Amino acid sequence: MTLRAAILISGGGSNMLKLLESMDADHPASPCLVLTNRADAGGLAKAAALGVPTAVVDHRPYGSDRVAFEAALITKLETAGADIICLAGFMRVLTPHFIDRFEGRMLNIHPSLLPKYKGLHTHARALEAGDAEAGCTVHGVTAKLDDGPILAQARVPVLEGDTPGSLAARVLAAEHRIYPDALRAFAGNFQTSRQSLS
Ligand code: GRF
Repeated sequence: MTLRAAILISGGGSNMLKLLESMDADHPASPCLVLTNRADAGGLAKAAALGVPTAVVDHRPYGSDRVAFEAALITKLETAGADIICLAGFMRVLTPHFIDRFEGRMLNIHPSLLPKYKGLHTHARALEAGDAEAGCTVHGVTAKLDDGPILAQARVPVLEGDTPGSLAARVLAAEHRIYPDALRAFAGNFQTSRQSLS
């Protein structure tokens, strides 16, 4: 049975688009929902243009009540029947309340060579440290921020004269290469383990 994948975004959604484009007829997963916390997320229109259902849960009315915000996200995801959740530039920290619900079924792409540079401003931090290379990581999501099992990594060189912006663009191109492959492999394994249980 084809798995149902939901993608969570907060911005332009270039990784989301690569994931959606990769989910062809042979893929073990198909997209069931693109969900965002920002009504102005550029990725929303791109998903809708591909005929993928979209939904917005604005975090702001919930203030500091993260659990209520996440309960609203969970309702959307469960209504869509999501088996797998892909975080793709989703800029809200998720609490264990949410993560426990989907642990083992949730992936994230992070723009650094984890375990280096968890959190924000990864490219500026790599430049500041004088690193010769940077990169990105797809990992399983656990309750610890930007932690969890590493599923794929790609390395890119840091070039002379790089700015955080130029390095980010080089890393983003690598993200677009590894996230679709990592999702395909993850969904394939997930499907196999589900079949052996049934
Ligand atoms: C990517 O660099 C991702 O690694 C980071 O946020 C960025 C999202 O870009 N978490 P996009 O929305 O996929 O274009």
